[in-house]
Amino acid sequence: MKFFREVLIIGEKIEAFIFDLDGVLTDTVEYHYLVWKRLCEEEGLYFDRQINEKLRGVSRRKSLEIILGGKKVQEKTLEEMMARKNRYYQQSIIKISKEDLLPGAEEILQQLKKKHIKLALGSSSKNARPVMVRLEIEDYFDAVADGNSVERSKPAPDLFLYAAEKLGVSPYSCAVIEDAEAGIEAALKAGMLAVGIGPPERVGKSHIYYPRISDLRIDDILSRG
Ligand code: BG6
Ligand code: MG
Repeated sequence: MKFFREVLIIGEKIEAFIFDLDGVLTDTVEYHYLVWKRLCEEEGLYFDRQINEKLRGVSRRKSLEIILGGKKVQEKTLEEMMARKNRYYQQSIIKISKEDLLPGAEEILQQLKKKHIKLALGSSSKNARPVMVRLEIEDYFDAVADGNSVERSKPAPDLFLYAAEKLGVSPYSCAVIEDAEAGIEAALKAGMLAVGIGPPERVGKSHIYYPRISDLRIDDILSRG
């Protein structure tokens, strides 16, 4: 896929950045972990940080399926568990404020705005909008693609393609900033420039990656277009 983009899409300029939310702009990964843990304790299901790592970027339903690890559960029970997890999650995001933006995140949004680069949010979360509001970043974005926007979640490319369409740009002119393996896979499938945030074991399949969002260099990314 890397080969595909570099060879066939040469000369395509980066005009837009699509940011994942959880784990890129803010550290809600820990909140998701704590509420899944609470649900698992109530249900007598095994859950640890290693399993939690597999949930980065994937939808609520898929996350529960991973936690259940093949255990058969009726649809009604699945839905009740997802709703309960979400209630707990919504209780925990009330605590989020601007202080929860990861260091350097807002500066990057500001620099991109100055350069007139289009910005979209591309998050699998159905709670992305309230989290953006609490972080006070919604005005930076020209489009929002969230867990309510498309049927197929990451690693399918649909969410990022939807974001590009809403921005009115070609997918090939988009850079995606992602912390999850599922998100990198989705960006590559969409034909976008995949920019990873995190360790190589997790985001090493991206075109370019940085340990933290504060390490990201906009000009590096623009020159890779
Ligand atoms: C992603 C998170 O952004 O959103 C996942 O990385 C989470 O961990 C997914 O499962 C869905 O979130 P929500 O808020 O719709 O349950
Ligand atoms: Mg993420």
